[in-house]
Amino acid sequence: MKILVTGGAGFIASHVSEGFIRAGHSVVIVDDLSTGKRENVPSAAKFLQHDITDFAGMEQIIADERPEIMNHHAAQMDVRRSVREPLFDARVNIVGALGLLELAVKYKVRKFQYASTGGASYGEVDTVPVDETHPTRPICHYGVSKLTLERYLFLYKHLYELNYTVMRYPNVFGPRQNPYGEAGVVAIFALQMLRGDQPTIFGDGSKTRDYVFIDDIVRANVALLEKGDGEILNIGSGVPTSDYQIFELVREAASYRGDPKYAPVRPGEVAHIALDGGRVRIVAGWEPRTSLKDGIARTVESIRQSNACLTNS
Ligand SMILES: NC(=O)c1ccc[n+]([C@@H]2O[C@H](COP(=O)([O-])OP(=O)(O)OC[C@H]3O[C@@H](n4cnc5c(N)ncnc54)[C@H](O)[C@@H]3O)[C@@H](O)[C@H]2O)c1
Repeated sequence: MKILVTGGAGFIASHVSEGFIRAGHSVVIVDDLSTGKRENVPSAAKFLQHDITDFAGMEQIIADERPEIMNHHAAQMDVRRSVREPLFDARVNIVGALGLLELAVKYKVRKFQYASTGGASYGEVDTVPVDETHPTRPICHYGVSKLTLERYLFLYKHLYELNYTVMRYPNVFGPRQNPYGEAGVVAIFALQMLRGDQPTIFGDGSKTRDYVFIDDIVRANVALLEKGDGEILNIGSGVPTSDYQIFELVREAASYRGDPKYAPVRPGEVAHIALDGGRVRIVAGWEPRTSLKDGIARTVESIRQSNACLTNS
């Protein structure tokens, strides 16, 4: 099948694109390189540098390429930027994405796969882990904007029979995650420790998150090409891991000897979240396979290998 992947120069969707290519599909990547890197794009994929918020340009691309599947990962995904610049966040995550839905209907795309977020959509939760029936109460603009597209997908299926699968991701980690960003604590800690810098934990270390390694996320995307139609699915392990546990696991993998320093919790961050993946196990037979320890070891090794610890860009 021909699959158009947005955001394919970024961390997650570059791996997803590789997974699609390995499964025999042909991949066209659209990315404006705002946070993604050209070198992340698999050589077997066609690459078009383009901003998804440019509707006319995107229409030309879709009209030329005629993809059967749209896999949408491009996003403004910085929680703090979303709070500082809510209009920009909405322009990319809502208006840009809505344009893609319009084009998916017009050009008869078979299915729209959407990379949503569990952590930012549910907000503070009543129980851990949460399943998909739990209320969504985002506490940051990014959570609202990501969730809004889920609502539009439901609407576009209802009105125009656009087929879709929503994947609510947990904290995804692995090679190529930006260690200089604000999010992606495994990569950030790893880089700091490899440089001999003391990592900062925001809060007292007890905040918990659900961590899933990138290879498992790729398997979910591939499996859900043919399954999970019209569904919203948590792609989670259901296991909460604290910031301090992550610190300890990265410390072991990076052979670091120090302790963390602590700073106040940042706005927009929930205290606890883990995503119950029971539904996707039933629908697609998916569950994570890579242990946290192995995934962290591979992530630390990739940062060591890339010499990212020696450069600053
Ligand atoms: N990383 C996580 O743990 C996580 C968790 C939940 C959801 N997600 C979702 O997964 C997706 C990918 O996240 P990631 O961690 O790989 O981030 P990333 O920043 O590495 O990838 C996003 C990609 O989108 C591109 N992009 C941004 N705005 C664009 C625009 N207007 N037009 C075209 N391209 C644009 C960027 O250049 C980048 O390559 C996002 O939609 C994010 O909301 C990620």
